[in-house]
Amino acid sequence: MANVAVMGFGTVGSGVYEILKQNAEHIAGKAGEEVKVKYILDIRDFDDHPEKQLFTKNFADIAGDASVSTVVEVMGGLHPAYEYTKELLENGKSVITSNKELVATHGTELLEIAEKHNTNYFFEASVGGGIPIIRPMHQCLAANEIEKIAGILNGTTNYILTQMIEKGKSFGDALTDAQNKGYAERNPAADVEGHDACRKIAILASLASGKFVDYKDIPTEGITEITLEDVRYADSMDCVVKLIGYAEISGGKVMARVCPMIIPRTVPLSDVDDVFNAIMIHGNMVGDVMMYGRGAGMLPTASAVVADVIDAVKHSNVPKHLTWTAAEENIMLDGDEKQTVMFIRTLAGADAVRREFADAEFVDNIVDEETAFLTPKLSEKEIRSRLDKIGDIVSGLRVLEI
Ligand code: HSE
Repeated sequence: MANVAVMGFGTVGSGVYEILKQNAEHIAGKAGEEVKVKYILDIRDFDDHPEKQLFTKNFADIAGDASVSTVVEVMGGLHPAYEYTKELLENGKSVITSNKELVATHGTELLEIAEKHNTNYFFEASVGGGIPIIRPMHQCLAANEIEKIAGILNGTTNYILTQMIEKGKSFGDALTDAQNKGYAERNPAADVEGHDACRKIAILASLASGKFVDYKDIPTEGITEITLEDVRYADSMDCVVKLIGYAEISGGKVMARVCPMIIPRTVPLSDVDDVFNAIMIHGNMVGDVMMYGRGAGMLPTASAVVADVIDAVKHSNVPKHLTWTAAEENIMLDGDEKQTVMFIRTLAGADAVRREFADAEFVDNIVDEETAFLTPKLSEKEIRSRLDKIGDIVSGLRVLEI
């Protein structure tokens, strides 16, 4: 029998407990032995819980119990999750996490510690909730050089945008809904300002390039500036607005960004609504691959965590090392040089636009006094410099090209 401890009994932790209970027989079959929760660590009291004897507030109970082989860390945040994870890995226990903040910040060190102590550090649930993405990228696509990743990586913002577009809900009401459904981060600014998606694309870019991509080096914009007018303009062009985590990997260098983008309805990502996430990966041999599923929520995220638990139990004697290493030099490329098309709204007239962009493609304006247009494909730096000359810019959104 494998004894498991769960650290953090919030949305994901309670889902992990529920799946391990409900699917116990199936999970035992997959893992080759019974998988039992021995401890649940949480600072709160759960006196009404039917198995209240499992709860502890003392981390040492778990760290010091040699019969616990696998620990689920779903506490969130950096501290004390980092210190606990380090100690558990040093004690030879496998650690499974959904904590993207921790993986994106200390993943390199924690993966090294796991390897040194011949144990597992798995984080399938840290990106895309219930979508299998970490293992498929690392294992099934191993023959490929991954050249491009574009993903809807945050369920909360996708849910908010969908509710605004399709149900005409206000931003605030849609966010409250997302919080009630357990999608949003403790501090929802992490969702709506793009930081959560930024950590996720940093993890995927690290896996794809084999070198640590620091999320702090990824330019990030959220959806707080997106208006219903932007959404309506997109609709008039047969497009939608989505928050996209994007990375290009070439010659060991990485260009990454997170920003709301205009997605043509011909691109499959445009159909990804509500809490669903999807990740498109371009491998140099396989071409395009897309993974789709629920990106947040109790059972979808816990399903990915429990799959990791099963893998760790099965591979406790022969650990599997997902890995990337620290970059010895700056591997980040400047997004300014990337060739792109932008959708622009300005209060300047069409003549001013034509002077700078002779090939501009004008879009019927939805707001009086505005001129709306698509730029030709140019470097972002060049577009910005020409927009400075036009002036009176209301908003600008990149158009996703896959
Ligand atoms: N707040 C995150 C989201 C949870 O909405 O996608 C899953 O990582």
